[in-house]
Amino acid sequence: MLRIAVFVSGRGSNLKAILNHPELSNLIKIVAVFSDKTECGAFDIARSYSIETHVIGKGENKIDQSDLLKVLKNYNLNLIVLAGYLKLIPIDVVKYFENRIINIHPALLPSFGGKGMYGMKVHDAVFNSSAKVSGATVHFVDAEYDKGKIIAQRCVDISDVSSPEDIAERVLKIEHQLLPEVIKAFAENRVKIVDNRVVIKT
Ligand code: GRF
Repeated sequence: MLRIAVFVSGRGSNLKAILNHPELSNLIKIVAVFSDKTECGAFDIARSYSIETHVIGKGENKIDQSDLLKVLKNYNLNLIVLAGYLKLIPIDVVKYFENRIINIHPALLPSFGGKGMYGMKVHDAVFNSSAKVSGATVHFVDAEYDKGKIIAQRCVDISDVSSPEDIAERVLKIEHQLLPEVIKAFAENRVKIVDNRVVIKT
């Protein structure tokens, strides 16, 4: 069983897609969900599956960033999944979990990524660029926003959309397929780094 922590900031539809994926139930266990928000939709989903939740931040009942690595180590994790998490991961955590933290981004990196590019801001930028395709990217997390090596991408045709919301809807569907597929590949030990590129073995 691959032991996973999921980091979230919002409604948690990607968390739900992982939890509901029929091929993952025997391969992974989500042992904890972390958020920078005190409350969010993703926490409700986690609780409904009896998964432990933690708030990262300053104050009572919160985990300070400087204590995060210690808490994560206690969970004996194999993988950390950022699913709509809006904050940077502290550098000590990035280093300790090198090549074991992944993020889903709702566009085709390296375009439309980086600091401040999250949520509808991404889809607005894609819409205004008049791009004809968008998609989802799963990548390794390093010390910078959206910069780590790309693990998997999937495109969607947006040539006929009439709003950024249309793009968001199409991309989200792809996200819900791609992220569980990549997690499955990790669980089956099929994600390899070969000649400086990330390869998913079939
Ligand atoms: C997704 O589009 C994800 O790619 C982005 O934030 C959104 C989170 O959605 N980083 P949800 O909370 O999983 O519904």
